Amino acid sequence: MSNIVLASKNLHKTFIEAKMRTEVLKGVDIDIKSGEKVAIVGASGSGKSTLLHLLGGLDHSTSGEVLMMGQSLKDLATEKVTALREQYLGFVYQFHHLLPEFTALENVMLPLALRKQSLTSAREEAKNILARVGLSHRYEHRPSELSGGERQRVAIARALVKKPLCVLADEPTGNLDHKTAAGVWELLLELNQDYGTALLVVTHDERLTQHVDRVLRMSDGLII
Ligand SMILES: Nc1ncnc2c1ncn2[C@@H]1O[C@H](COP(=O)(O)OP(=O)(O)OP(=O)(O)O)[C@@H](O)[C@H]1O
Ligand SMILES: [Mg+2]
Repeated sequence: MSNIVLASKNLHKTFIEAKMRTEVLKGVDIDIKSGEKVAIVGASGSGKSTLLHLLGGLDHSTSGEVLMMGQSLKDLATEKVTALREQYLGFVYQFHHLLPEFTALENVMLPLALRKQSLTSAREEAKNILARVGLSHRYEHRPSELSGGERQRVAIARALVKKPLCVLADEPTGNLDHKTAAGVWELLLELNQDYGTALLVVTHDERLTQHVDRVLRMSDGLII
């Protein structure tokens, strides 16, 4: 079996709305190997979030393809893509996307519950990982009752709780203070060490780019 967890081949994305055509990705080739740590940097608007969404199967390409564990997403039904994402990936969005009506603990339990894990063990694992991001005193809070940084940490715990093969994170520490951001990086790097989780992280944070295996630079829809 190939050790590439996630790849794209000649990936193009053009948004067409009303009469406006926005060419965002112009042929991106990327390979993320098992256990590899990769950072993506680039100017605002260069296409970083768009690329992450496509790699995570959250949006469709205009042409080219994404391969998750060697399987092309191109001709798969949405449910199948969702199932692959749930099985292999953890996603930390640029904006947290927590479910507002659920508590912090329930938000983190959800990926495990979707995997049909028992609620007792899902609760236990969710509590452990929330404690690791410093939120053992906030299990019962809803997102609206948390600070911005706390919400982001819940979102990170939710992505990591499944111990995915690959975590895709879009500026995961963008809204965090120095100390909390350092804790989040530590957690990501520990997960990488302990479970061989590959990391693909969009970041402007120079402290992280020093700890990765490769830094990819995006410019105007291409990796340069
Ligand atoms: N749904 C859409 N329709 C039209 N244009 C879009 C759409 N989504 C994104 N774009 C455009 O695509 C370009 C790339 O957006 P993207 O969010 O990928 O940038 P980014 O590199 O993540 O930037 P940032 O660092 O600010 O987060 C932007 O110029 C944006 O306006
Ligand atoms: Mg972005």
